[in-house]
Amino acid sequence: MKKNGKGLLLLMILVLFALMAAACNSEGEEGSGSGSGSGVDVGIVLPTKDEPRWVQDEQRFKDALSDSDYSTEILFSQGSSAKEKENVEALLNKGIKVLIITPHDGAAAAAAVEAAKKDDVTVIAYDRLITDTDAVDYYVTFDSLAVGAAQAQYLIDNAEGSDIPLYLYAGASSDNNAFLFFQGAWEVLQPKIADGTFKIANSSEAEALSDTKELDRDQLSKIIGQVTTNWDPNESKNKAQTHLTSVGEDLKGDVAILAPNDGTARSIADVFGSDSAVTDYTITGQDAEKASIQYIIDEKQSMTVFKDVRTLVQDAMGMAVEVLDGNEPETTGSYDNGAGEVKAKQTDVIVVDKENVKSELIDTEYYEASEFTGIE
Ligand code: BGC
Repeated sequence: MKKNGKGLLLLMILVLFALMAAACNSEGEEGSGSGSGSGVDVGIVLPTKDEPRWVQDEQRFKDALSDSDYSTEILFSQGSSAKEKENVEALLNKGIKVLIITPHDGAAAAAAVEAAKKDDVTVIAYDRLITDTDAVDYYVTFDSLAVGAAQAQYLIDNAEGSDIPLYLYAGASSDNNAFLFFQGAWEVLQPKIADGTFKIANSSEAEALSDTKELDRDQLSKIIGQVTTNWDPNESKNKAQTHLTSVGEDLKGDVAILAPNDGTARSIADVFGSDSAVTDYTITGQDAEKASIQYIIDEKQSMTVFKDVRTLVQDAMGMAVEVLDGNEPETTGSYDNGAGEVKAKQTDVIVVDKENVKSELIDTEYYEASEFTGIE
């Protein structure tokens, strides 16, 4: 009796531990859809919680899923391809039929999606393409070339005179989008570098290619390798400080800065803003992050490229539901990922600056005016 009692207690403790371990393992958030049994229908893997951009996507997924009939789970990879693969495997073990994934590293993620394909799971690349694998079925994306082109055009539209120092920054080389953003920007900027409107201030690789409008992947790699921020605000800040320390007065004054996204733009803007020899700067961004909207209102960041995440989430979930219902999702084009053409659905982007911030972001209910100071 006594022995049995102990055995029962031990069993209860074991069960308790098993339950706690299960709770700890599921760092993800279950979607609030009613679900179709005990498994998960759609697995969503996002790259990091450390950037507001992806926290924004998580929230928009949750909003969109609140009345979905299918069950979902969202996991974050925290900037690690190994963690990303673990996340995909955990979701495969839960029986997902569709995987929506934004890779941390577009090439390294091939292994994870190939594992999914082996399990007959439909793979949707979300915002970032996964390269050099035929295991990607669909790609939902913004027009990334247009993002870069819009940033470049903004710098041109706000340029006065000639020989304006131009500081170039790029995203992470492991992200295919960083190439598209830079390529889109370069094609618009290059003629204005060639005609003397801008002079490149911080990249010998870009200077060496300043006569070439259409850069191939290797040429882009060279420039991006030199001016990458790795999408990291700290790295951006350090690079900007190094650049400003190493240039003379002729590369200060009124300057133009191509910053690839909002997180990096705020860091770079802080550095340029605190250099007394920089009299004025125009700086780009993208993502319409709340902190950058405040910077735009405060005139510390010039513009952002607004990518309406609600549309991307709708497109991705719409595709997932079509697949689950046994239909072929609609696409509008395709992207070459190095292994073949991936069917894609693409969404347009919108330039936002101080002039239209209210009409584009507040009146459309993307954000509320009360989230900012200085907006009516
Ligand atoms: C996304 C951007 C984001 C960047 C850094 C890119 O792939 O398209 O919106 O700012 O990654 O996370």
